[in-house]
Amino acid sequence: MTNKIRYFIANWKMYGDLGSLKSIKNVIKFSRLSKSKKFKIIYCPPYTLLSDFVDTLKKSSIETGAQNIHENYDFGAHTGFINSKMLKNLGVKYVIIGHSENRTLGEDHKQINKKILSAIKSKLNVIFCIGETSFQRKNKKTNIILKKQIMNGLKGIGKKCKIIVAYEPVWSIGTGVVPNNLELEKNIKFIKSIISKKFNNYKILYGGSVSPNNIKRLNMIDLLDGYLIGGASQSSKKLIDIIKKTFN
Ligand code: 13P
Repeated sequence: MTNKIRYFIANWKMYGDLGSLKSIKNVIKFSRLSKSKKFKIIYCPPYTLLSDFVDTLKKSSIETGAQNIHENYDFGAHTGFINSKMLKNLGVKYVIIGHSENRTLGEDHKQINKKILSAIKSKLNVIFCIGETSFQRKNKKTNIILKKQIMNGLKGIGKKCKIIVAYEPVWSIGTGVVPNNLELEKNIKFIKSIISKKFNNYKILYGGSVSPNNIKRLNMIDLLDGYLIGGASQSSKKLIDIIKKTFN
C-alpha cells in the first residue's frame, strides 16, 4: 500500500442524537494515540448535531462535514434549508453533494452543479457523490452515467479547485454487496481518467457497504484514496477497526 493519506468519511445520514456524541470520544482518542498522519477522519452528522460535532472535535484532527446544502449561495426564503455560508459560519469544513439518496428524491445535475459552485465559493471542501443504479449497471451504462454525472456536476469548476469524488454504486449502498475488485478498479480507473484531466488536486473514494469485513480486500485497490462510510461509521468500534485494518 502506498504512503498517501487515506480518507475515512463517516456519513451518518438521518441517524444520531445528542447521546451519540459520546460514541465519538473513542474515535477522538484513537486518532490522538495513532500519531501517524496517514489518515483523515471526517464526520458528517445530521444538521442538528453539526454545531456539537464542531465543538467536540475542535481540539482533535478530526473534521466535520454536512450532508447537503441548498443550491442558492445567497440567503433567501427557502423554508427548511441551509446554504453553504451558514455551514462555513458554523465551522464546518466539508459538504457531501449529489448523494444518490438525494438524486433519487429529484436532485438533478443542474442543482448539484449549483450546490458545488456555492460550496466552493464558501470555501467548503466538496465530497461529490456519483454512481450507477443496478438497472444502469445491468444495461452496461455505467461509464455513460458516471461521465454524465461528472461532466454536468463539475461544469465550470476551476482546475485548481480541490475535489473529492466518492464513487458509490447505488446497488451497493446499505445492501452489504460490494463490487468485486476487478469491476471496482475498472470503474475507479475510468473516473480517474476523466477527473485527472479536469483537476490538479483530487481524491477518489469508494462508498457502499464498507465494513471491517471487506476493508482488507478494498484496500488492495491502490487507486483509492479512502472511503465514504454509512452504516458502519455509526459504531466507533467498527470505524476504528476499518482504519486499523487499512494500516495493519
Ligand atoms: P453504507 O455504508 O451504509 O452502505 O452507506 C454508504 C453511503 O451511502 C455513504 O454515503
